[in-house]
Amino acid sequence: MAFLIDMKNTTVYRGQQKVLDRFTLQLPMQRSIAILGPNGAGKSTLLKVLMRELYPVREEDSWVKILGNQTWNVWELRRNLGFISQDLQNRYFGYVNGLSVVLSGFHSSVGIYDHQEFDTKSVELANRIMAELGITELSHKPYSLMSTGEQRRFLLARALVSEPSTLVLDEPTSGLDINATFHYLRVIRKLIAHGKQIVLVTHHIHEIPPEVDFIVLLKEGCIVSNGEKQQLFTDKTLSELYDTPVKVMSANGYYQVIPDEVGAVSGLNNSLHR
Ligand SMILES: Nc1ncnc2c1ncn2[C@@H]1O[C@H](COP(=O)(O)OP(=O)(O)O)[C@@H](O)[C@H]1O
Ligand SMILES: [Mg+2]
Repeated sequence: MAFLIDMKNTTVYRGQQKVLDRFTLQLPMQRSIAILGPNGAGKSTLLKVLMRELYPVREEDSWVKILGNQTWNVWELRRNLGFISQDLQNRYFGYVNGLSVVLSGFHSSVGIYDHQEFDTKSVELANRIMAELGITELSHKPYSLMSTGEQRRFLLARALVSEPSTLVLDEPTSGLDINATFHYLRVIRKLIAHGKQIVLVTHHIHEIPPEVDFIVLLKEGCIVSNGEKQQLFTDKTLSELYDTPVKVMSANGYYQVIPDEVGAVSGLNNSLHR
């Protein structure tokens, strides 16, 4: 069986730091997945390995297979996997307009260039996706003058034009207000309903759509656990993951964590009175 990603004994450095150390993980292909863990756990690094933006150390007994293949033409891979991250959001600047951001998705490039041509069919598809996301009116607005929420919708449209099977989202709602966040969530749920696989990194547990039920918990470059959401979203597991006492609540298929007041406040009182 092919996996979205099958990593065996994978070691990845960022600068001098070994971020993933002989890391082994298999992510299923047909299910939507959320990756959680404290800051610095290695979540973005893992996504960059998946997107072939970072490469592991070559070792005899180690491999990274993506969608069943060990070798990929990166441009082809990136057409199969739409990607959105803060890094990408910051890479667009200047007076590139919304439509250009969307069209750049056809070449997985940042911005568009004179030598890149777009046929009528591509422009029509870009227009259709912008209409679906409700951003047609902004298509000529300079990206740098858009709100964060608007920019994020254009990046989603950019990720969708190559009609990828999987969308890889690294903290897609960071900096968005509640309305923009919930709009984004509705769009993501609709995409899942239409058969797209989502791989989501988030700190906001209440933003994990009910359909995303395969969970990976990461800490300090290691897998704490991975598997079914219902089994992993417990007070004990998430308190240990984040090193703080939390209580897990759930409603309508969503989960949320709140501080475990008893543990947290008595600890605070002690430290205040000390
Ligand atoms: N460009 C970089 N150069 C050196 N170290 C980095 C770089 N990017 C990230 N790191 C380090 O790698 C570790 C994992 O980072 P990252 O994958 O971004 O974590 P997360 O997304 O879980 O917050 C962190 O300790 C971070 O300091
Ligand atoms: Mg990150």
